[in-house]
Amino acid sequence: MRSPGSVGSLRVAPSILSADFGSLAAAVELVDAETDWVHVDVMDGHFVPNITIGPPVVSSLRRYSDKFFDCHLMITEPERYLEPFKKAGADGCTVHVEVGNTAAHIAQMRDLDLRVGLALNPRTPFADVEPFLGDIDLLLCMTVFPGFGGQAFMSEPLPTIKAAREAADRHGYQLDIEVDGGIDLTTAPVVVEAGANVLVAGSAIFARPDPLGAARDLRAAADR
Ligand code: DX5
Ligand code: ZN
Repeated sequence: MRSPGSVGSLRVAPSILSADFGSLAAAVELVDAETDWVHVDVMDGHFVPNITIGPPVVSSLRRYSDKFFDCHLMITEPERYLEPFKKAGADGCTVHVEVGNTAAHIAQMRDLDLRVGLALNPRTPFADVEPFLGDIDLLLCMTVFPGFGGQAFMSEPLPTIKAAREAADRHGYQLDIEVDGGIDLTTAPVVVEAGANVLVAGSAIFARPDPLGAARDLRAAADR
């Protein structure tokens, strides 16, 4: 596993969902200097109404980047695909709590030496992830309903971000809190203030005329 960097520090994770799928390696290389991870959105057409990337794409991209690959599995049966993603070069995988079998997925990710992430949708209660906070490395709080890039940020999950950060502090858990969906120069400071430290951004980076500059600006906005 490549190093994810120090837990709790600010990290920018560009979502390649908003990049040109015909030139993914070039997109990742373009923003390399101003980003920390590569966020890979995996969708199966069941858990979400869209189909995107599988292990072959991760393994191809792996040849062009040394970054930490943060694979967000929006799929109903992650247990079937964790090992293929690990073999393809994933460093961390994040499964959704809504698909169930969470304890088994966490154990399987640990066995595979994957960094362990757990995601929840905007209206999933914090109580559903709370029991697992001590067993995971990353909590991914969705700030849109997953499926597509370019959606408007939802502020409803802000109390969940705050509650997760408070719980992690209270128990001394080493936990990254990632946010995903509608993160831009305006919303980044808001989620960081709430307790998030890993910012996923798709359209705010790759739909901009200067993706490298946009990534730099996003970090600066969050750091302020
Ligand atoms: C949504 C994905 C996100 C998405 C974010 O289902 O999980 O990672 O690409 O895109 P933006 O930043 O455009 O909201
Ligand atoms: Zn994502």
